[in-house]
Amino acid sequence: MNVPVIAVDGPGGAGKGTLCFSLATQLRWHMLDSGALYRVTAQAASDAGLDFADEGALVSIAEGLDVEFLPAAEGLTRVVLAGRDITDAIRTETCGNKASQVAAMESVRAALLDRQRRMARAPGLVADGRDMGTVVFPEASLKIFLTASAEARAKRRQAQLLARGESATLARLLETIEERDARDRNRAASPLMPAADAIVVDSTGVPAQEVLDTVLSEARNRQLIG
Ligand code: DC
Repeated sequence: MNVPVIAVDGPGGAGKGTLCFSLATQLRWHMLDSGALYRVTAQAASDAGLDFADEGALVSIAEGLDVEFLPAAEGLTRVVLAGRDITDAIRTETCGNKASQVAAMESVRAALLDRQRRMARAPGLVADGRDMGTVVFPEASLKIFLTASAEARAKRRQAQLLARGESATLARLLETIEERDARDRNRAASPLMPAADAIVVDSTGVPAQEVLDTVLSEARNRQLIG
């Protein structure tokens, strides 16, 4: 692979989105939010009234996704499915849980693989997900596994929900996070785990800027950036 890729994996709420957005902005590289692809697949399947046990139908949906990720103001990305803006719809906890269900299916993952790999374009790609360093970009130039305690992740999720005018108790969020972690880590298809050559970064109590500096310094060590 000629195009440099920084793969950032880890559980939900560890700060991958913030880190990847800052990296991509600073380096002027492309960005892949692979979780959004699973969320969009789940949303499209719900909209079509599909039974989530119907794996074949979910694969057809994943293969045929007519989705666009459009840069918007203030670093936001608008997600447009077949001409309809679903940015807010895919960020709900309900959609996240459905995404976790479709993401557990090997055939759905396979259907989304090429779409993800095609995102590796010059000058470089920052890829955010669960299996970026292990499956999608095993040759990535730098692999980061960003983690944090479940409590810290629940608090981060709560702040994100509040910012969108939604609310949820910490206890409920912690429960959801632990459920989703278990599903993502224990599934047979591309389970969430650090690649053997990944650098594990724990963001518990660490300011976002410090996490970014750590990753930039690793990128410099590998001469990915000047
Ligand atoms: O990062 P996120 O919360 O948007 O991801 C939504 C779900 O998709 C989450 O349960 C994990 C799953 N996912 C995955 O299995 N593989 C990826 N590369 C990205 C996300």
